[in-house]
Amino acid sequence: AIERTLSIIKPDATKRNLTGKINAKFEEAGLRIVAQKRIHLSMAQAGQFYAEHKERPFYGELCEFMASEPVVVQVLEGEGAILKNREVMGATNPANAADGTIRKEFALSMGENSVHGSDSEASAAREIAFYFSGLELVG
Ligand code: CMP
Repeated sequence: AIERTLSIIKPDATKRNLTGKINAKFEEAGLRIVAQKRIHLSMAQAGQFYAEHKERPFYGELCEFMASEPVVVQVLEGEGAILKNREVMGATNPANAADGTIRKEFALSMGENSVHGSDSEASAAREIAFYFSGLELVG
C-alpha cells in the first residue's frame, strides 16, 4: 500500500550540510518528499516528541542533541514507505548499518545518527500530526 512516514534529518546532518545528499537517497529509493520544513526544536518539544523514551538512560542526551541545532522534518510517501525508509536509513547504530544506507555513509554515532524514521503505522500517524497540519499535506 502507499504509505506516509515521518522523517527527521537530525542536527549532526543539517550542520554538515547533508540535507540534499540524504534527500537524494530517499528519492533514489522511490520515496517522494511530500512535505518538508526546517525547524529548531525546543527542549520541551524534543521531550514531547520522544516521550516514549522518557525512562531510557539516553533520553536527556537525545533531547539536548535534537534541540541543539535546526532539523529538517519531512513526510515521505511511497509504496511501503514506513519499512522502505527504515531500510534506506540503516541500523540505529551506524556500526551495524548496511553498505549504501544513510547511517552507514553519514552517521557519526548511535546518538548522532543523522536521521529518524517512524517505526510503525501508528507512530507514523502520530509523528506526522506532531509536525504537520492538514493544510501542509497536499495529495
Ligand atoms: P531515533 O530513531 O531517532 O529514536 C531514538 C533515538 O535515540 C535513536 O534514533 C538514537 O539516535 C538515540 N539513541 C541514543 N542512544 C541510544 C541507545 N543506546 N539505544 C537506542 N537509541 C539510542
